[in-house]
Amino acid sequence: MKEAVTFLKKHGIQALDFGLVLGSGLGELADEIEDAAYFDYHTIPGFPISTVEGHKGRLVYGKLMGKWVLGMQGRFHYYEGYSMEEVTMPIRLMKKLGAHSVILTNAAGGVNEQFKQGELMLISDQINFTGTNPLIGPNYGAGPRFPDMSRAYDQAYQHSLQRIAQKLEIKLQEGTYMGFSGPSYETPAEIRMARLMGADAVGMSTVSETIVANHCGLRIAGISCITNLAAGMQETLNHQEVVETTEKVKAHFKRLIKTFIQEEPHK
Ligand code: HPA
Repeated sequence: MKEAVTFLKKHGIQALDFGLVLGSGLGELADEIEDAAYFDYHTIPGFPISTVEGHKGRLVYGKLMGKWVLGMQGRFHYYEGYSMEEVTMPIRLMKKLGAHSVILTNAAGGVNEQFKQGELMLISDQINFTGTNPLIGPNYGAGPRFPDMSRAYDQAYQHSLQRIAQKLEIKLQEGTYMGFSGPSYETPAEIRMARLMGADAVGMSTVSETIVANHCGLRIAGISCITNLAAGMQETLNHQEVVETTEKVKAHFKRLIKTFIQEEPHK
């Protein structure tokens, strides 16, 4: 961690407002960062390396809508074999580089029967169903041993995202994201269970990053792109469809996040 922080500071990351974690197919937002500096993960000391298709595997730093942002094009997933410590390391890194907030995004399967493929969902809460917790082990940093998760996703951010979506006439669903470990997609029975348990969308990321971001005092905004209906609600599932759907919604996705970053008063 220390090496990564020193390296990135030395290479120009001096101020930071928002950390951006860009899910499958959503990495293009980082292409809009002005005067961008790029850091391939494999060139950063102490950084893990991404392997999934559709993930570029680099940090992009610069200004977006007047704010300093550090975007992750590609994140680390537990199913790739990384430890939870590795999965969440970039979140702690963003905090150490001065971020006050993170925007966590993902591709997700729609569990709520009202949701349609290609809609965006504001994450209002989550269910960690990965079977583990990234905070297991010695308590790291200044955060509490038993962090409160009552308001993990920032309430004021939820309100502004809903307001902005309405203003931009972008349909924004809202709900609970349930994180599985993957990499197999869920079975129809698991999706029925997820729905009974209160999930509106399912995916293979985000929940651990949220736990760590909350632990280290970052404000969190979360957006899912509903790339498909969950198992049992449509014929079959595949990663190609996930990427194709993000292609279709990325314009809305980008406008929503950019306006949010622009309007958020924090400097
Ligand atoms: N399940 C889990 N992860 C996903 C899905 C899904 O249906 N769609 C996109 N990521």
